[in-house]
Amino acid sequence: MCGIVGYVSSNTDAKEILLDSLKRLEYRGYDSAGVALIDGEGRLQVFKKAGSIDSLKETLPEIKAGTGISHTRWATHGVPSDLNAHPHVDCTGKLALVHNGIVENYRALREELEGKGHSFSSKTDSEVIAHLIEEMYSGDLLEAVKGALKRLKGSFAILVLHSDHPGEMVAARQESPLVLGKRFGKIFAASDPTALLAYTEEFIFMDDGQIAHLKGGNITLYDFDLKEVKPNWQRITWSVKDAEKGGFEHFMLKEIYEQPSTIHQCLQGWDEEDLSWLRPRSLTSVNIVACGTSYHAALVGKYVIQAFSGLPTQVETASEYRYSPPTDYSSLHIFISQSGETADTLAALREARKRGNETLAITNVMGSTITREAHHTIYLRAGPEIGVAATKTFTSQIIILYLLALWMGVRRGRILSEEAGRVLSELKKMPRVVERILSREEEVKAIAEGLKGAPSMFYIGRYVNYPSALEGALKMKEISYIHAEGYPAGELKHGPLALLDENLPVVAILTSDHTYEKMLSNVGEVVARNAPVVAITEEGDDEVLKYTEDVLYYPPVMPILSPVPIAIYTQLLAYWTAKFRGCPIDKPRNLAKSVTVE
Ligand code: G6P
Repeated sequence: MCGIVGYVSSNTDAKEILLDSLKRLEYRGYDSAGVALIDGEGRLQVFKKAGSIDSLKETLPEIKAGTGISHTRWATHGVPSDLNAHPHVDCTGKLALVHNGIVENYRALREELEGKGHSFSSKTDSEVIAHLIEEMYSGDLLEAVKGALKRLKGSFAILVLHSDHPGEMVAARQESPLVLGKRFGKIFAASDPTALLAYTEEFIFMDDGQIAHLKGGNITLYDFDLKEVKPNWQRITWSVKDAEKGGFEHFMLKEIYEQPSTIHQCLQGWDEEDLSWLRPRSLTSVNIVACGTSYHAALVGKYVIQAFSGLPTQVETASEYRYSPPTDYSSLHIFISQSGETADTLAALREARKRGNETLAITNVMGSTITREAHHTIYLRAGPEIGVAATKTFTSQIIILYLLALWMGVRRGRILSEEAGRVLSELKKMPRVVERILSREEEVKAIAEGLKGAPSMFYIGRYVNYPSALEGALKMKEISYIHAEGYPAGELKHGPLALLDENLPVVAILTSDHTYEKMLSNVGEVVARNAPVVAITEEGDDEVLKYTEDVLYYPPVMPILSPVPIAIYTQLLAYWTAKFRGCPIDKPRNLAKSVTVE
């Protein structure tokens, strides 16, 4: 998992443009970084380093170059080190390559190439591609790349430079994302369009099995046999501002604050026409597959789809999906992925397709792999999410699931359209509900200050807010490094109660529905063990004050919609606890935003 950027121009600003764009891809990995440039004398110069892009930048000399490639890494093969950082060069030192993906047959290839006298300087799978291209090279870079690709197994997005061909670059894609852009004779390539928003709005999302030749201000697209392919240009209207911090200290806080507008956009963007292929009456069940926060959204979706449409719904963690038996063809398979690039989710999607299921992707990223591989796609329209901990995309994911469940429910005759209309108008109030919660940030801060020393925490909830408890705990552990676990409140007595004492805070999530009384008893059980309780509950709930003074109130909402306001509170709670603990909030250790390995 990595981010790559390429630039071909007749200017001398390649170093600056490559580093600036790479910085916007840091969420894809940040354990090492590097850049290769062809300088004014036509020499290839490579600079790479373990550590952040900023620390690489500090070590770079003044260098004027028009063409270059750059890379930000998240180690998969070979520890983060200067040598394992990309770009990788061939034995001649004339060819440089950056790679995102995994070469599955790299051991065999390396052995073969070493047998032919190639000398390797890293432990990465990626370096074999550089030597393989070198082996195939006899003056034509495009032909050499074509030849090398035929030998590779696995996933890759690559950018290749050669000092014999200054002002040229070859790009190729197989299962790892790669976009190309063009403006005023300059050509760009990157893992994702957000890296390039400052420079262009027009993109080609490369397809699997495509090679691009970037030369003389032009892009020529081919298949792997070098048969020319017509490019499909798309306009991306996200602004650069959308991808920057906009005055907030962290992307995560900015993204939490964007939720009134992202929820609004998500509701606005909902188009029933997109579902014209779906026949809810012929469905027998729904399967939802996802990872991480998207998995928690899927769990909310399970309750909601069952409640509104009556369809039995199963949720599976993507990495476990392949171990479950095939379902019948009349089950709708939904795959939720913010990035659309999560390897486990894509593998599960491929398996579902192999089994003959109709597949629907819910994602935030246009042109992402999931959108090419699923039969149908619904977009979140939340704008780029940079903070590693997902926030605004979680609420958008559940909004889509409410809308889908209502739509299916009406068509299945499970709910009347008047009732669906009532829920919909409650949903439309969500941006204002979220704004009210955001205006209470100081209350969250005060509670977070009390949590900052906790060694461990529990989050408890029931029914539709059991997933809220899981998500709350995930946010807390991801960014504050406090061990936190989410539990169905009824399960406390089957183990976790043994751990409770005055040092172990419990966040209890209450809703004014049929679960309320039972939740209150569970809160009582916690308080009886002297554990401090933070309650998140609806305005007007005075009962809970008998147990705790730390109460976060959300405005009255339909109970089944309460996961939306509750998510805002759990996000803020995690954010402020992490902030008080001095954690690197946008880039927690060992984690990455887009996990493209299984
Ligand atoms: C990583 C991220 C999480 C995210 C998960 C699934 O673990 O750190 O924030 O929820 O991947 O990502 P996806 O893009 O598939 O939703």
